[in-house]
Amino acid sequence: MTEPLARFSEWYEHAVAAGVVEPEAMALATASADGIPSVRFVLLKGIDDRGVEFFTNYESRKARELTENPRAALAILWKPLQRQVRLEGPVELLSGEESDAYFATRSRGSQLGAWASRQSEAIPDREWLETRLREMDTSYPEIVPRPPHWGGFLLRPGTIEFWEGRPNRLHDREAFTRGADGAWHARRLSP
Ligand SMILES: Cc1cc2nc3c(=O)[nH]c(=O)nc-3n(C[C@H](O)[C@H](O)[C@H](O)COP(=O)(O)O)c2cc1C
Repeated sequence: MTEPLARFSEWYEHAVAAGVVEPEAMALATASADGIPSVRFVLLKGIDDRGVEFFTNYESRKARELTENPRAALAILWKPLQRQVRLEGPVELLSGEESDAYFATRSRGSQLGAWASRQSEAIPDREWLETRLREMDTSYPEIVPRPPHWGGFLLRPGTIEFWEGRPNRLHDREAFTRGADGAWHARRLSP
């Protein structure tokens, strides 16, 4: 993997090794076609040369916004390490094969939950969800297939910024921008 995605991956592995709680939790910002922003946490599920992967419901608010406006921003904080990484760029769907492969690694409960939840829609009460989960459990007594409305997204970062806390609030900020030729250009930013 090339800089700076390799560095992001190293920082993530370091956070895991350091025992940071939920090191994969990252804030995902999207916006509707008319520019109204929204943000929520999702889990980082993969980093490779292309970018960063997360999984969700394709009919959720975030997915609807990513369909009308396929660009997003991510921020991830490893507080005990005084490290933040920000990524911005276009977003695309992961392939069905990649989503199937990840779905197969999830627990049965999470797999059934993906079928039961109509993410982001209003529902009558908690009981509605519990009933749906029991129905799905009956419908899929053995293997739970991936729901067509559930899968991954890939954010291909055009910018990545590494932030590291330093004394006197003179923090380190190093921003990488990908040029039209695909090469990364580094700049140091004032804190
Ligand atoms: C730490 C944390 C991790 C989460 N991870 C995911 C995730 O990986 N995928 C997901 O769809 N929702 C995840 N959620 C729930 C989302 O924050 C959000 O409630 C949900 O996706 C609906 O968002 P939307 O209505 O904006 O689409 C997570 C929440 C928290 C607090």
